[in-house]
Amino acid sequence: MAMTINKLEIENVKRIKAVKVEPSATGLTIIGGNNNQGKTSVLDSIAWALGGNKYRPSKATREGSMVPPTLKITMSNGLIVERKGKNASLKVIDPNGQKGGQQLLDSFVEELAINLPKFMDGTPKEKADVLLEIIGVGPQLAELEIKEKELYNQRHAIGVIADQKEKFAKEMTYYSDAPKELVSISELIQKQQTILAKNGENAQKRQNVATIQQNHDFKKSEVERLEQQLQQAKSQLEQLTNDLAIAQTDAMDLHDESTAEIEASIADIDEINRKVRANFDKDKAEEDAKQQREQYTELTAQIEDVRKAKRDLLTNADLPLEGLSVDDGKLLYLGQEWDNISGSQQLMVATAIVRKLKPDCGFVLIDKLEQMDNITLEQFGQWLEQEGLQAIATRVSTGEECAILIEDGYSVVNEAHTQPAAQPSTWKF
Ligand SMILES: Nc1ncnc2c1ncn2[C@@H]1O[C@H](COP(=O)(O)OP(=O)(O)OP(=O)(O)O)[C@@H](O)[C@H]1O
Ligand SMILES: [Mg+2]
Repeated sequence: MAMTINKLEIENVKRIKAVKVEPSATGLTIIGGNNNQGKTSVLDSIAWALGGNKYRPSKATREGSMVPPTLKITMSNGLIVERKGKNASLKVIDPNGQKGGQQLLDSFVEELAINLPKFMDGTPKEKADVLLEIIGVGPQLAELEIKEKELYNQRHAIGVIADQKEKFAKEMTYYSDAPKELVSISELIQKQQTILAKNGENAQKRQNVATIQQNHDFKKSEVERLEQQLQQAKSQLEQLTNDLAIAQTDAMDLHDESTAEIEASIADIDEINRKVRANFDKDKAEEDAKQQREQYTELTAQIEDVRKAKRDLLTNADLPLEGLSVDDGKLLYLGQEWDNISGSQQLMVATAIVRKLKPDCGFVLIDKLEQMDNITLEQFGQWLEQEGLQAIATRVSTGEECAILIEDGYSVVNEAHTQPAAQPSTWKF
């Protein structure tokens, strides 16, 4: 059962002389009055009474008072919290008459409920952390955000390299006239060797001619010298003449093939291969850049997945208020960052969030409710009632919306106060 405040009795704290308030069990109780009358002092007193000495005002005792401050708060379950005496020492008595202390108060008092400005003035990250604490997805979201950041940084680094590689590849020369593969020199050398071998054979044949010629001459002289063997030599000569004729004919058709073209090709090969290697390098550089770009695209998809997981996490969470979300560690309401939502909306959002922090704490203190116009006030009050939440608020006003007026440190029940007709809230909470 959430604890609310049934009754407040305060004397001689700060600007207060004597104040007694019995707030509505749920909904909005507005403490009105003109400036400097002691409205905020009432909230400061509650914070001190319930929040402990760290909320003790720097000048707690009312100036001019001959007696020390006294505070008495009666909670909805009958628990009584008192501060009185010279040291304003704390006394907590539970409904069974058992004594307690600050620890007991801390068990049901939500610190932000008595110190809403602490939430309101927090950094965007602190606000988001409070919300995440409530919906219990903080660690998962933090993990996803770390993962997202890692992937993002990784993608950024890869993107920079991809750009560099693409630029590098683009600047490299490409020879469109060069063959696709490196040219092999061995084939040409083989060709050359075949030709040289054939040429060798030709030389041999030429040599043959010379030899036969020699023999012929020799035989001819032998014929002269050996007339007696003329007959025999003549026939030999005849034979040799024939041979000679054949060999001469053979030799006549011979022609040497040129290796000049091949030599030129060999010389060209170095240049061709230089171009082929350059093309290899460019192809490789382009492939490299392509792979880098593919990796970049893959990381983009992964980042999108993580972002979706984050959205899903919050979409499925039980949020204190429809329209709340967290992005990049910042609290958003209806997609807007804190400094972009109106003052009255800030108060509503803060109240809704603080409400969920400690379910046992059924009240919240709100200073400076002038932020809200009368229509918003009424809707806010209805929503508080629906939530079973008690809000004690101050407002610079002496209008009918105020249940209590503070005048010169004294509380006065506002006779003109009208309770708004109970009707279902149309507020989009
Ligand atoms: N111990 C004290 N004794 C007497 N007066 C004090 C003491 N502490 C603060 N004050 C005075 O109380 C006044 C402020 O009181 P408080 O903040 O409660 O007024 P308020 O009604 O909330 O005013 P506002 O409408 O401007 O917010 C100031 O003038 C301040 O000097
Ligand atoms: Mg004030």
